[in-house]
Amino acid sequence: MTETEVIKISPEHFTEREKAELRRAGRILREGGLVAFPTETVYGLGGDALNPCSSRKIYAAKGRPSDNPLIVHIAEIADLGKIVSEIPGAALKLADAFWPGPLTMILPKSDLVPRETTGGLDTVAVRMPSHPVALALIREGGGYVAAPSANTSGKPSPTCAAFVAEDMDGRIDMIIDGDMPGIGLESTIVDLTVDPPQILRPGYITREMLERVLGEVSVDETILHSATECARAPKAPGMKYRHYAPAGELSIVRGESGKVAEYINLRVSKDRAEGEKVGVIGTEETLSCYRADVVKSVGSRRDEETIARRLYAILREFDDEQVTRIYSESFSEEGLGQAIMNRLLKAAGHHVIDLDTMGGEENDSNRK
Ligand code: TXA
Ligand code: MG
Repeated sequence: MTETEVIKISPEHFTEREKAELRRAGRILREGGLVAFPTETVYGLGGDALNPCSSRKIYAAKGRPSDNPLIVHIAEIADLGKIVSEIPGAALKLADAFWPGPLTMILPKSDLVPRETTGGLDTVAVRMPSHPVALALIREGGGYVAAPSANTSGKPSPTCAAFVAEDMDGRIDMIIDGDMPGIGLESTIVDLTVDPPQILRPGYITREMLERVLGEVSVDETILHSATECARAPKAPGMKYRHYAPAGELSIVRGESGKVAEYINLRVSKDRAEGEKVGVIGTEETLSCYRADVVKSVGSRRDEETIARRLYAILREFDDEQVTRIYSESFSEEGLGQAIMNRLLKAAGHHVIDLDTMGGEENDSNRK
């Protein structure tokens, strides 16, 4: 057990005390320790990316398989050249358009980056976050901070410091509590080692936004389909693991809104008669239609950003309520909706009930 210290830093304007705390946090990283910190997407679990021992510690703290590579976070564009062996023009264009921000690029790694950090790969994932606390910590910590999301493997990424503490207390040296991330879903990952560039994980930076800068961009087909449907594993090693799965069995119901509510209510009554505790994930617009043990709104359909921001918290809340079955509405797969549906489908193990095309039959093929 490690004693985990929690410090609070306000992201607006650092006081002298906060600057001193950030220097201390940076020293912990440089000495091989682990510090969790806020970013604009989710909280990260940071260690020195150039120190193989730090990367091993990160895997141990998360309980994460060590073939799942880490993202290296930088604070200066000039530092990119030291950790990658070549910088294609596309990378500079993307950095110019979206950094600092929620975009991760896959590039060929330089010898400076240990294989412990890249899960044995010759490529490295790099991102420059925009959160002021993250940037300050990276600078104080030596410039290269490896940081996966700060959850234990299999749980939803943490969107507040309390969720980090739930998973990491006693396993890491420090947690910096610095505000709620504004986005709530992990960064978009784009692989620049292939032509055309390919999105391996959808996020706030959408395909449309990337195409405006680069021209054609492809999408890893496993993003919205299960591995069984695609007959191959996702290209980002981490995307193949069952993620974010709540303890209750989650099903996504697709179809016209009124029919979805009617169907879910029917299933809820049936499940409750069988002794299940049932939860429903609805939206501001539909919340009043549902009758279940626990009904929660994930956000408003008029503003998808509210849904992205709350999705992971709601999955953790259903665990706290110990519901055994969960039904969720489905969302559009356009724009930010693609990232929302990607995470929701993974949480549901791709269990979808499609009321339009399947006449209410369940797509159960992927249920393990
Ligand atoms: O928003 C984010 O990206 C957050 C914050 C903390 O920055 N970080 C994050 O890291 O989500 P993590 O480790 O939870 O997810 C990293 C993903 C994994 O799916 C991993 O397999 C993939 O990136 N990845 C990392 N390096 C890669 C590489 N060289 N090639 C392909 N995929 C890679
Ligand atoms: Mg993660």
